[in-house]
Amino acid sequence: LALHLEGICPGWSIVVKGETSSSSGMFEINLLCDPGDQIALHFNPRLSSSRIVCNSFLNSHWGQEEVNSTFPFKAKEPFQVEIYSDQDYFHVFINENKVLQYKHRQKNLSSITKLQILDDIDISSVEITRRALY
Ligand code: GAL
Repeated sequence: LALHLEGICPGWSIVVKGETSSSSGMFEINLLCDPGDQIALHFNPRLSSSRIVCNSFLNSHWGQEEVNSTFPFKAKEPFQVEIYSDQDYFHVFINENKVLQYKHRQKNLSSITKLQILDDIDISSVEITRRALY
């Protein structure tokens, strides 16, 4: 799945609802930026190791991984991932609980213009919504 955005705005969230598949699976939600579809945020839950790996792919290489061991996903279960952005961080909520934050490496948020979801999930909805609360 790929969706075009007008650029990420502080104060807005991307909400993905879906269901994971097998226990060996993984999936990724990528926020891509211009030019050349580099990755501002790679959000990659890996069910096999019960870790969430986040990283960026900028200037043609992967940066340092940020690995999170809070892992609310289970095989074949519905989930909701919300990625909220403010000026400094992406804040990631899973099933409405804050799980991690990721400092912006691509600081020009308006260059982040594509949402890409890959691999082993059934997506039921993707929503862009304004948040005033966080
Ligand atoms: C690599 C993997 C990529 C990406 C990256 C994140 O090992 O092949 O798909 O997940 O880690 O650092």
